[in-house]
Amino acid sequence: MSAQVAVVGFGYVGSCVGAVLASKKYQVTGIDPSEKVVSSINSGTAAINEPGLGDLVAQAVADGHLTATSSFDPVKEADVVIVTVGTPMDDAGEPDTTQVSQACRQVAQNLQPGQLVVLKSTVPPGTTEGIAQPILEESGLQAGKDFFLAFCPERLAEGRALHELQVLPVVVGGVDQESTTRAGDFWEEALGLPTVRVSDARTAELSKLADNWWIDLSIAMGNELAQLSDKLNVDVLEVIEAANSLPKGRHHVNILTPSMGVGGSCLTKDPWFVHHMAEEHGLSLRLPSAGRAINDEMPGYTYSLISDGLAKADKPIETAKVSVLGVAFKNNTGDVRLTPTRDLIALLEGSGAHLSVFDPWVDPSEFSYVTSVEPCDNLAEAIEDADCVAFLTGHDDFKRLEIAELAELTAPGCLIVDGRMYFSRAQIEEMEQLGLRYRGIGR
Ligand SMILES: NC(=O)c1ccc[n+]([C@@H]2O[C@H](COP(=O)([O-])OP(=O)(O)OC[C@H]3O[C@@H](n4cnc5c(N)ncnc54)[C@H](O)[C@@H]3O)[C@@H](O)[C@H]2O)c1
Repeated sequence: MSAQVAVVGFGYVGSCVGAVLASKKYQVTGIDPSEKVVSSINSGTAAINEPGLGDLVAQAVADGHLTATSSFDPVKEADVVIVTVGTPMDDAGEPDTTQVSQACRQVAQNLQPGQLVVLKSTVPPGTTEGIAQPILEESGLQAGKDFFLAFCPERLAEGRALHELQVLPVVVGGVDQESTTRAGDFWEEALGLPTVRVSDARTAELSKLADNWWIDLSIAMGNELAQLSDKLNVDVLEVIEAANSLPKGRHHVNILTPSMGVGGSCLTKDPWFVHHMAEEHGLSLRLPSAGRAINDEMPGYTYSLISDGLAKADKPIETAKVSVLGVAFKNNTGDVRLTPTRDLIALLEGSGAHLSVFDPWVDPSEFSYVTSVEPCDNLAEAIEDADCVAFLTGHDDFKRLEIAELAELTAPGCLIVDGRMYFSRAQIEEMEQLGLRYRGIGR
């Protein structure tokens, strides 16, 4: 019989990890207090909009490899328990590990000898040993002897989650050598993944934060380079492509692409986890907050591209029709958590512009987090007679729109603002030939 896995916290990460393991014929139970999540999974439907997940969940449920429940009883039968609950940032900007403590307490009440517990939530270094382990040991079982405990950070990127879960190396840091070995062997056997086995859980925890700190900073550099490129009248994407051709160390220079902003529940908080962790140790780090500040300013920068562009065309923003395409924080996902589009839309709403919004990936019930404007039903309706079309995400649905159709449907001389589409030079030339005006971030 195939190994049993309990995935505790069946949100974005949990449902992706659970569905992929179920597709490899593991017997997976998703445990989540949310009735919406549980009923949606048990009816064979994913509760989130991630490419490919719906089909994987439907198949796994039909095959009897995946079920969901709010009860922690299935933990008793599991060979492996994977904890993927949320770790939000609290109002003071500090990590809130309440869900981790609560989940571990409920796991402890059902913990059995020989089980492997893997913590995947992003946590401040010291959480696995300092919070998860003592709570799990309230069961009377001892980590490293009676059960095994490791931290294996989740590094998937939304929009590519299912692919990345099956190719990215897994960092493994156990609370002892045996825990590292068991957790590493599990990921190698389950998904055929390479593992990076580090000295302890603390090292693995810090490595996850280092990844997201680096990503946020490299985007921040791309964003500042874009602003300078705008002043110098060069195309930032050409600058970055040329700069990134330089080998340095074991890899290449890798400046990430600029955009209208950074959102989601990871990059917006993890650099702050680093900042607060350092403060607790008497260190005042400057880079985490600098990267955050630069990226947080990008919606405002994008707003100025829109208002200046409209003003130059003698179409004051106060009376212009502005069409916003995409409100999710990431291309090809329906996730609006901490989306930077919300800040830009608030500025547009405040300007008096007549707004239309459309995002085929976002559930209509989630739109209210971003805007009070009623979303359009389709793209054509959203851009009809627009003086400005602001592409705030680069969903594939938008990439299928022909430039000629864009010109035909919008008002003459429409301003196209490119927040994340990265239109090619040929497409930009076609826009200009058809009377459209193009502005990108750093382009
Ligand atoms: N979303 C991503 O792209 C991503 C990528 C890498 C790492 N992470 C990290 O993974 C973790 C999970 O992120 P997410 O985006 O899946 O969060 P999420 O909010 O989508 O999911 C968390 C789930 O845990 C459930 N939950 C809360 N308390 C619980 C409890 N006591 N027992 C069982 N379930 C409980 C919630 O109902 C929710 O469904 C976070 O630490 C995040 O930083 C997220």
